[in-house]
Amino acid sequence: ADDGYDLWLRYRPIEARYADAYRTAATEVVVQGSSPTLLAARAELNRGLSGLLGAAPLVSAAPTRDGAVVVGTPASSPLIASLRLPLDKVGPEGFIIRSAQTGGRRVTVVAANSDVGALYGAFRFLQMIQTRQPLERVDVVDAPKVKIRVLNHWDNLDRHVERGYSGQSIWDWWRLPDYKDPRYTDYARANASLGINGTVLNNVNAKADSLTEPYLRKAAAVADVLRPYGMKVYLSARFSAPIEIGGLKTADPQDPQVRAFWKAKADEIYRIIPDFGGFLVKANSEGQPGPGDYKRSHAEGANMLAEAVAPHGGIVMWRAFVYSHELPEDRIKQAYNEFKPLDGQFRDNVIVQVKNGPLDFQPREPFSPLFGATPKTPLMMEFQVTKEYLGFSTHLVYLGAYFEEALKADTWQKGKGSTVAKVVDGRMFGHRLTGMAGVANIGTDRNWAGSIFDQANWYAYGRLAWNPEASSRAIAEEWARQTFSNDPAFVTPVVDMMMKSRETVVNYMTPLGLTHIMGTGHHYGPAPWVSEAGRADWTPVYYHRASPEGIGFDRMKTGSNAIAQYAPQAGKELAADEKNLLWFHRVKWDDKTQSGRTVWDELVVRYTQGVQEVAQMRRTWEGMKPYVDADRYEQVADYLAIQEKEAQWWRDACIAYFQSFSKRPLPAGYAPPA
Ligand code: GCU
Repeated sequence: ADDGYDLWLRYRPIEARYADAYRTAATEVVVQGSSPTLLAARAELNRGLSGLLGAAPLVSAAPTRDGAVVVGTPASSPLIASLRLPLDKVGPEGFIIRSAQTGGRRVTVVAANSDVGALYGAFRFLQMIQTRQPLERVDVVDAPKVKIRVLNHWDNLDRHVERGYSGQSIWDWWRLPDYKDPRYTDYARANASLGINGTVLNNVNAKADSLTEPYLRKAAAVADVLRPYGMKVYLSARFSAPIEIGGLKTADPQDPQVRAFWKAKADEIYRIIPDFGGFLVKANSEGQPGPGDYKRSHAEGANMLAEAVAPHGGIVMWRAFVYSHELPEDRIKQAYNEFKPLDGQFRDNVIVQVKNGPLDFQPREPFSPLFGATPKTPLMMEFQVTKEYLGFSTHLVYLGAYFEEALKADTWQKGKGSTVAKVVDGRMFGHRLTGMAGVANIGTDRNWAGSIFDQANWYAYGRLAWNPEASSRAIAEEWARQTFSNDPAFVTPVVDMMMKSRETVVNYMTPLGLTHIMGTGHHYGPAPWVSEAGRADWTPVYYHRASPEGIGFDRMKTGSNAIAQYAPQAGKELAADEKNLLWFHRVKWDDKTQSGRTVWDELVVRYTQGVQEVAQMRRTWEGMKPYVDADRYEQVADYLAIQEKEAQWWRDACIAYFQSFSKRPLPAGYAPPA
């Protein structure tokens, strides 16, 4: 049975008509060096080529024939050192893959400055075969543009995954540290194949327990497995840990005993995990403890932790996802209000982690106005790979297109072309500490991600963390070729379907800038009618504001003025974009939209279109049957049926509800059959 466990590292035999060409181009594996990382590179090439070419390659210490694949660094490999490759261009983690002649033999060299770079290059080489790229005259020079490329697991110590839709946590805390599930190695391989170089093991809603010695030993065991693959382990730190596990009465960052607690804790962690990456912190958000409890700023809180890990080379990723229902302010303005004034106050090993939008991973949000607004503070992007607000694991939504939209957005903070990507990769303000986090969708399901197409979202996150300017379409194509088939009759329609799927979910859930109208708490399915007493900020009716007069949230000057948090030109563009209509504007039901239809009619049309588009996805998938094994074909088909049923549910529920205010008939052609 094909259960999707192998992800995009399937290495199934190449079609007969191409196999010979690849067999001549990859005859022999020569990995010069013997570090655990280089051994992992050798094992992967062995595994990959065996699968793809149908027989294990020769493994030699030096090339003995044409078609040898030579992997290593100038330090590990005299051969690579002798080739004088422009390795100065690829930094500590990049690589060069190049066709070369050596000792009269035609070889392919996979070279890097570090063993991890060489491993990344080995994965890329295999990917080239998996996607059927030619191997004659190869010349690939590539390096990551972002330094910290991490997954954030919202995994609790009891293995429940907050917002997880693919089983339980893969971290088996009970059996750690002595039993290291082989799955951890496959996890590391999958991440290394994308260049993901770190992982935060525990939930941002953290328990202090995770910082106690037994758990640190468990985390160290995981770190041991991940290390050869270039991945560091990080932990979410609970700000009140000095009280809960330190026996102190306070967690005030200005208290000397509290500072001493964190210093000692950091020293202990680094004794147990010498290459520990650092802390991720959610503070003063959704009831979590934080420096604000002591009237201290986020900078004071972050700097205390940063000081503790600094001597060990650690960093602090401090989240800007803060808001409080006790404030009268529009929720989406709060993070900016809180963090913008702190620009310049953070230590240089702190990076502030900002969700792509100012609200919370909605199907569509304008970019967070913090991007580009803090020249002195490095910001890292936080994307949600798990589909909390996008239909969990049964709806097919390719998030590559979503991520790309956020990264391409122009903040205008330094004139035209000041994209979010340039903030994230550090070019905009010359920051060297840069990062991207993806809230993982990984769990114990055999297919890891809850569905086959959700694997693409992990994949796309990793590729965009490596290069925030990469094309999400190209990434989808790479993924589809490796995961399913290289046949253009498969690749073209499936990539088209993936690319459209994001707009489709927006259409059937939250068209025209609607937001946060999902069922409260679980966030599944429509619930625009819900009003939660005392929690406007979690309440659909607060966000859509439908009434007999109209619909939408006025965030212009006449309303909450959230628009003023953007650079003027960016604000102008966002406010004029119909995709954000009801996010920024309150409109009347009969106001005209760009199509010439009224707002009411346009809403009905978009909702209906969303359903029709899912029906189209089902038909597309039916046509893919010849290219896909039965197990994966059937699961995708069944999930698409669920998605269509639920798109219809969204449409019917939202239209019926909003119609109770608009009191208008459905436009011609959209009325239900009599
Ligand atoms: C969302 C999500 C929570 C999560 C929070 C966060 O609100 O629903 O489960 O804890 O984001 O990012 O901290």
